[in-house]
Amino acid sequence: MADKDGLKVAKDYLAEVPFANMGDFHVKGAKNLDWGMKKHLSNIFDPKTGKTVMFAFDHGYFMGSTAGLERLDLIVPTLTPYVDVVMATRGALRTCVPAECGCGVALRTTSGSSMINDDLSHEVVAVDIEDAIRMNADCMAVQTFIGADGQLSSIDNLSQVINAGFKYSIPTMGVVAVGKEMERTDRFFKLATRIVAEMGCQIVKSYYCENFEEVVAACPVPIVVAGGKKLPEDEALTLAYKCIQGGAAGVDMGRNIFQSTHPVEMAQAVRKVVHEGFTDKEAYQFFQDLAHRK
Ligand code: 5RP
Repeated sequence: MADKDGLKVAKDYLAEVPFANMGDFHVKGAKNLDWGMKKHLSNIFDPKTGKTVMFAFDHGYFMGSTAGLERLDLIVPTLTPYVDVVMATRGALRTCVPAECGCGVALRTTSGSSMINDDLSHEVVAVDIEDAIRMNADCMAVQTFIGADGQLSSIDNLSQVINAGFKYSIPTMGVVAVGKEMERTDRFFKLATRIVAEMGCQIVKSYYCENFEEVVAACPVPIVVAGGKKLPEDEALTLAYKCIQGGAAGVDMGRNIFQSTHPVEMAQAVRKVVHEGFTDKEAYQFFQDLAHRK
């Protein structure tokens, strides 16, 4: 066991200095990957902007039917024209997402939690690599519980999926989970995102926090930010704006899109922030104009 005494606190993130190993590829940390991985990453991160709008609707895997997602078959096809990637379970994808939708696919591969027993830190790998290949997944999402009860088994899950992903050139997205008893500080996210990235995944999904640009600087792969609980639309667009300003490679938004009063218009407004350089205020004005036109 490494001696923890006398460890120095990391502090020199040089957040203003761009990542040094981009080469000529648009995805952070991916320069040295093979063609197959790069092709999948290009299906996720738009080569023109290097960013992505992921639409997460995998909530059913631990929450069952969720407000706004009662009818996946009705809501999802209205949104796919406006997002780059759908993040979902294989059950939702196969039953409710048109295969011709043109979006990249972030396939949820771990499972085992549920709201009923409140055990949200123990999961297993529920989807094997063969099925991820059959579904043409562009990345495989694995929940990780750093600092929680399920840390060891979730790191085991993550390693299994990353190893299989390298075998067949499918990227892995490590999802940093936050629990009731876990702090949402930059200290925690610097630790968790870095651990997950150093395990070898190609994308990290995490949360916005103070000093977010330092979290991004210390993480050698792209960070996409979860939307989290439903906020008023203007605040959700401010969150998206701050993430992009802080160096996020995109957002992976669920409730703030599908629980919006106007989900389609909200997805388009988020897109403006992520891909077109809109400020949060400009994007909110755009959202209101679209919504009032209906
Ligand atoms: C849970 C997830 C979910 O996909 C994600 O949190 C859902 O998005 P949102 O928080 O924006 O509703 O990864 O860990």
